[in-house]
Amino acid sequence: MTYQSQRIAYAYFLASVLLFGLQVAFGFVSLAKYLGPDPLLNVLNFATSKAIHTNLLLVWVLTGFMGAAYYMVPEESRVEIYSVRLAYVQLALWLAIGVIAVVGYLFGVTAGRKFLEMPQPLKYGVVVVMVMFLVNILLTIRKAGRWTTTQGVLIGGLASAALLFVSGMIPFDNYTLDRFYRWWVVHLWVEGVWELILGAMLAFLLIRLSGADREVMEKWLYVIVGLTFLSGILGTGHHYYWIGVPQYWLWIGGVFSALEPLAFLAMTAYAYNLMRRSGLAHPNTLALHWTIGSAVMSMLGAGLLGLAHTWPQVNRWTHGTHITTMHGHMAFFGAYAMINLAMITYALPAFAGVPDESRDTRLGLWAFWLMVGGMFGMTMALAAAGITQTYLERIMGFGYLETQQKIQVHYLMWLATSIVFAAGVIAFIWDFAKAGLPRATVVKA
Ligand code: HEM
Ligand code: HEM
Ligand SMILES: [Fe+2]
Repeated sequence: MTYQSQRIAYAYFLASVLLFGLQVAFGFVSLAKYLGPDPLLNVLNFATSKAIHTNLLLVWVLTGFMGAAYYMVPEESRVEIYSVRLAYVQLALWLAIGVIAVVGYLFGVTAGRKFLEMPQPLKYGVVVVMVMFLVNILLTIRKAGRWTTTQGVLIGGLASAALLFVSGMIPFDNYTLDRFYRWWVVHLWVEGVWELILGAMLAFLLIRLSGADREVMEKWLYVIVGLTFLSGILGTGHHYYWIGVPQYWLWIGGVFSALEPLAFLAMTAYAYNLMRRSGLAHPNTLALHWTIGSAVMSMLGAGLLGLAHTWPQVNRWTHGTHITTMHGHMAFFGAYAMINLAMITYALPAFAGVPDESRDTRLGLWAFWLMVGGMFGMTMALAAAGITQTYLERIMGFGYLETQQKIQVHYLMWLATSIVFAAGVIAFIWDFAKAGLPRATVVKA
């Protein structure tokens, strides 16, 4: 850790890791409902537990992104964060909003739009948090007068995410319009501006882990940004097939979204390229695992499994089945969970003031392989469930509940692999705790 104020990131990462654990716990609660008999049936319904599961995911991933920014910006701009106090106040407010939202869901207070269930007043709170964050970061960079492409893409991604969030706050009476703009947040986040955040974090980590030349590496980043915008913006159309908009969206959505894997492919190629050059020599092996892992797993989960159901001819049958759940899990984990875990494992030794070489990596490697293996298994179980569900329900015409009964075995497989995954999460949290608190003294990198 070169700058004292980078310690802010530790608080964000700690919150992130704990909320990740809680998210997974609510995953089990949600899965229990598919397996039944459900002991929580009258206390917590599926819609509520799933909303808590997915909202906690968004909150911990965004907390990780903000922590990453507080870690990266001082190093990129070579200056302390403008206001450390503001950063902590921001975190407290952000977490308070998260807690109020979750408690509200438990009492049935919800705006009811998948991923955007937060009631309107809390959404205003989120806007305030984002403004606090962006002002602090921008004043930091202005103080230093030093911009880099990597942090420009990161901050650009985060600022655009905040801006797009506002399009999800406009109330509509018309259901089609409501769906139409909801995707400006959900799709344009994960397949647009969050991809920039991913690309920037990947660039930051790869440059440091491989010692590669920044100039060359940042050129790649432009390619990734270009491919993302080229495919992702009009790719939104792959959510417009069945919501009541004109038919030309079938073509636009199909063609442009089919190009989306290119951006993920570019990121994998980027990581592979660096890996070959550096020969994986960096002593922080854990960060290397998570970084390369994220580049590969996001390509599989988002690129490949996204492509699998993006054509209208396929999506017509698979829409809203476990095929979506299969893709959603691996994509979110591969891209946005893993890159955060990469950043956290990269920064941990620096916080504790321990040289990378002397860090015990056994537990951390268990965490990596249990999570990667578990998620791979979950994806397989969900693929089997999704294909069977699509066939029985949509093609053979069996009823929803009848189909559910026939796919119970896949839910059991989902449960078994989830347990493996959860063991990895516990190992990660344990390893995080073992690494210790940040040292008060600044250790020169
Ligand atoms: C990291 C990037 C990505 C993440 C995190 C992600 C995640 C998700 C999630 C959570 C959903 C469910 C959304 C909802 O119903 O509210 C979804 C749907 C979908 N995704 Fe992705 N996705 C990513 C990239 C992609 C890509 C690159 C493609 C295409 C090549 C794609 C194709 C689709 C399609 C077609 C649906 C609609 C499924 C349906 O009709 O039920 N996704 N994605
Ligand atoms: C032990 C682990 C987990 C279990 C048991 C679990 C379980 C579940 C269940 C039961 C659902 C509802 C599916 C449906 O609507 O049919 C769900 C949805 C979801 N989960 Fe998980 N989950 C786990 C871990 C994760 C992780 C690690 C992530 C991401 C990093 C994640 C992301 C999501 C997303 C994005 C959705 C919404 C998917 C969709 O729209 O179809 N989950 N999960
Ligand atoms: Fe999408």
